[in-house]
Amino acid sequence: MKPLIIANWKCNPTSLAEAKRLFDSVKRGVRNIKNAEVVICPPFHYLPVLNNVGLTSIKLGAQDCFWEEKGAFTGEISPKMIKNLGCQYIIIGHSERRKYFNETDEIVNKKLQAVLSARLNPILCIGETQQERKKGKTKEILKKQLKEALDHSTTQLLNHLIVAYEPIWAIGTGKACSPDEAKRASDFIRSAIAKIYNQKIAKNIRLLYGGSVNSKNAKSYIQEAGFQGLLVGGASLDQKEFIKIIKTAV
Ligand code: PGA
Repeated sequence: MKPLIIANWKCNPTSLAEAKRLFDSVKRGVRNIKNAEVVICPPFHYLPVLNNVGLTSIKLGAQDCFWEEKGAFTGEISPKMIKNLGCQYIIIGHSERRKYFNETDEIVNKKLQAVLSARLNPILCIGETQQERKKGKTKEILKKQLKEALDHSTTQLLNHLIVAYEPIWAIGTGKACSPDEAKRASDFIRSAIAKIYNQKIAKNIRLLYGGSVNSKNAKSYIQEAGFQGLLVGGASLDQKEFIKIIKTAV
């Protein structure tokens, strides 16, 4: 399976012209790369514009969504709306959503169900804080986040699920997790999914690493730690660095 390299632009860039420029140069840079799947998750309002730029090698995703399809929910955007824009992926439960917008595991669960029911691919983000890591609670936290996020998920939709291990202490800090430590977390995540469902489901779920990924460490997460892809934040805003990451990861 081709590695899945996802760019999370977060709340960047501030103008449509910059978004188009960044998108276009990534598109040019990946034109000849056939052995990676590249997804860009820009802020919502750039999605329809970027979708018209003639997508070939790049797919689009959203950074969040609401759990209802439509109705009186001021400010919210539903999975169906995102799907109707031509997107196939939605990031769910990013640690910044959990931290700044008080998203609980229960909310993450509702969003995950909504994304799966819309037949889209949720990228479920899980990970421990530095404090939890120091206390030796990483596995406990990962297990809880997984269990609660996946509650009520019907097995036939789970082949769309992607799980991103994003240690919170490594996000935007430049302190990337070592491939060894990331591998231990990924093995644990897969075995926890096997316990919740079964080996076959666990084997088919794509696991990504995210947290201070750059062109120097990207390869080690895929080749040494065995992840099936990467979720890239800060480095995805620099087109040259992002293209390098894709090239080194394949
Ligand atoms: P980072 O962010 O690459 O800037 O650490 C990753 C993420 O938040 O998904």
